[in-house]
Formats: sequence, C-alpha cells, structure tokens
Amino acid sequence: MLIAGNWKMYKGPAETAAFCRALRDQELDGVDVVVCPPYVSLATAVELLAGTEIGVAAQNVHWDGEGPYTGEVSASMLRELGVYGAIVGHSERRQYFGETDETVAKRARAALAAGLFVIACVGETEDERARDETETVLRRQVGALGDPDENLVIAYEPVWAIGTGKTATPELAQEAHALIKSLLDVPVLYGGSVKPDNAAELLAQPGVDGALVGGASLDLDSFTAICRAATR
Ligand code: 13P
Repeated sequence: MLIAGNWKMYKGPAETAAFCRALRDQELDGVDVVVCPPYVSLATAVELLAGTEIGVAAQNVHWDGEGPYTGEVSASMLRELGVYGAIVGHSERRQYFGETDETVAKRARAALAAGLFVIACVGETEDERARDETETVLRRQVGALGDPDENLVIAYEPVWAIGTGKTATPELAQEAHALIKSLLDVPVLYGGSVKPDNAAELLAQPGVDGALVGGASLDLDSFTAICRAATR
C-alpha cells in the first residue's frame, strides 16, 4: 500500500519543516508513505526526511531537461534535489493550467526516463459521469500514458470527489480501478476526499493499492490515521 499526501499550494518551508519533524517521529511500518510539497518546500522536506523511509515527490515536472519554459522545473533538477518522484496530470493542472493528455504523457515519460517515480492522475468530471462517459474518459486518459513501468502508478481521482467531501463508494472506486488495471497493469491509488473515517473501507477494495490524499494530508493526525488504516 502507498499513501501519498498531495499538499497542493499549502505549506511553505517553515510549515513543511514542522510537519516533517513530527512525521518522522511516527511509527508507520508496513505502508509506503510519500509527501508532495510545493516546489519551494521540496528541499526542506528532503533534508528533514533523509534517512527515513518516507519519500518526497513534486506535484508536477517538465518533459525537457532544461530550456526556455518559464515557471517549469525539470526531472533532472528534482533528482539533483534528492526528490524521488512527481505527480503528473492532476485534474487541477488539467482544469486550470491547460494540461492535456499529450502534455501529461510527455511529463510522465520524461520523468520515468530520468529515474523518477511517477503518480499519473486520471478521472472523470461530474458532467462526464452524468453523461455516462466515465469509461471513455478513463480509456483515453490511461491510453495516452503509454506502457507500464515499474516506477509508474496511476491515481484514480474522480474530479467530482476532489475537495468536495463527496467520495466514490468503495464499489464505484473498485469498478474504475478494475477498468484502469485492465488497460495498464500498474498499481492504482484512489484520490478524492479520502479521510480517516473512509480510508479503511476504500483501501479494502481489491483493486485499490493506496490513496492520494489532498486536504486530509495537511494535518499530521489525519494523515497518519490514513497511513495506519493502510497497514490493516
Ligand atoms: P482531497 O483529498 O482534498 O479531496 O483532494 C484529493 C486530491 O486532489 C489529491 O490529489
């Protein structure tokens, strides 16, 4: 089981340091734990979690090694910092920053080639689900990612469940995860309002290999409660 905390645009270096100091004192055996701070806080997280089993990943990564791409960061720069992986294709990137299946795939392939671990996000919007297009959307998004890789995992994040408090039922999550796994044989995390009180039930589904946690990953107690639910 892998539990990854996507901090989004929360926690600068000072808050990151306080969180990581507290996190490294926790007993979290039997679960792989990753935190994904904003770029400016990555170095702090890497430094404070060095020597622990907890991984540090970025929230995005560019496909070129360097170049005239204002506001972007490359895989080799992340590697230089000691960062172990990156999220790509989060729905907030697709929705607000123009990411497409093509750019997401370019980011994912370049990051894998550079030796990073990649969490690639897919998921349907509320409208797409209402129009019965979930399967079509997932087939398109997963298909664009290319071949399986030992350093690739997918996060299924139904967009209507992100930050809304609405969670996919365990059955609905299982159905989507089974479809994704039939398309690409990689572990699949569930994301979308995962909280301490629903984590165990979601993680108990056979197709659910872990969780990508947003809001609940910002608080140490709720994040570690989710990590512990993954060990049961
Ligand atoms: P929430 O857990 O806040 O719904 O966010 C999910 C998410 O987007 C994780 O990447």
